[in-house]
Amino acid sequence: MLILGIESSCDETAAAVVRDGEQVLSNAVSSQIAIHMPYGGVVPELASREHLRAIVPVVRQAVGLAEIKLDEVDALAVTQGPGLAGSLLVGITYAKTLSFALSKPLIAVNHLEGHIHAVLLEHRQSANGDLPLPALALVVSGGHTHLYIVSRSKAGTWQYHGVGRTLDDAAGEAFDKVAKLLALSYPGGPIIEALAKHGNPRAIAMPRSQVKAQEKRKAQGWDQAQRYDFSFSGIKTAVLRFVEKNGMQASIEKRRLALASTSSPRPEDFLPYLDQFTLDLVASFQDAVIRDLVGKTLRAAENLEVESLIVSGGVAANGSLRSDFIKRAEAEGLNVFFPSRVLSTDNAAMIAAAAYPKLLAHEFATEHFSAQASLALG
Ligand code: KG4
Ligand code: ZN
Repeated sequence: MLILGIESSCDETAAAVVRDGEQVLSNAVSSQIAIHMPYGGVVPELASREHLRAIVPVVRQAVGLAEIKLDEVDALAVTQGPGLAGSLLVGITYAKTLSFALSKPLIAVNHLEGHIHAVLLEHRQSANGDLPLPALALVVSGGHTHLYIVSRSKAGTWQYHGVGRTLDDAAGEAFDKVAKLLALSYPGGPIIEALAKHGNPRAIAMPRSQVKAQEKRKAQGWDQAQRYDFSFSGIKTAVLRFVEKNGMQASIEKRRLALASTSSPRPEDFLPYLDQFTLDLVASFQDAVIRDLVGKTLRAAENLEVESLIVSGGVAANGSLRSDFIKRAEAEGLNVFFPSRVLSTDNAAMIAAAAYPKLLAHEFATEHFSAQASLALG
């Protein structure tokens, strides 16, 4: 069974052909990073326009790389949400048109379910069968920080139960905002990871975000039971206050001006414009975010008695996050599974993989389905 997946929820236009939910025949991604870089974040109008330009060539590329003909696919799958409405609509409209023209069924996929299936797909390639279930999945990206219990019904349907989420910024968003504040490049995660290697992660004390989040919930009388929520705006604000208190604005401005004409700056380009103090701040920020993500996820895994851990989404590309997770999970006797780096960030192979069980169950989208910017999972 061949599924052509299409993904356009944020700033990547992607298409992929996947056989039987596990064999990736092609995985084409057109990234808009260079377009949004000058703004330090995704500009929705520019994103939709770029998706419109890229969608046809990207789908053609995916079909070509898979060495198939378009009418050989058994079904189409497309991201329904969550994401930017205008961006989602480009992928959905194109997928609906193809589905109509080819007379092939269309499957709507939740983007967050896609990130989880990036891991399930690769696990199936390397091992026989699924990873030990129930699993606890941390989906951590520029738009999301969610914890789900993942299980499978006897009929084979995947089930997701949310046990935690961010109460404010997503972890990747915090990386992006701190990078913007310090005049580093966009997206913030990769550049912060590269520069953090030159700093001391223990140099600057950062607030313990989880304490704040719990206090907030308690004050609002929310149910404390079985919740593992995150909060990253406190850490982001702590970086801002630190910059102001230590008069770092002038050196930030100098760096911004010096690198303004470099279109895709590399970490080495930044180093001559970064003092040790700033590198320590970058390392301490990254360490605080990772400690919170790993600490809370491990606590949830222990309390909820899951059989394995899944960590997926753009931030899962971070090497320090991976090694900390592996170390801590090993100590708890848990196996932790990550996607390869290509499948960590947005792609369409994960959308096609998540669609496969739905194809088997004949769970097709109706012709009236549309984008849902805030679509929830589970
Ligand atoms: O999954 P993704 O491609 O798009 C969303 O669904 O948001 O994730 C992009 C996010 C960005 O916020 C980016 O800064 C972050 O993932 N990211 C990283 C790393 N690579 C990407 N964060 C930390 N370390 C990285 N190496
Ligand atoms: Zn994503």
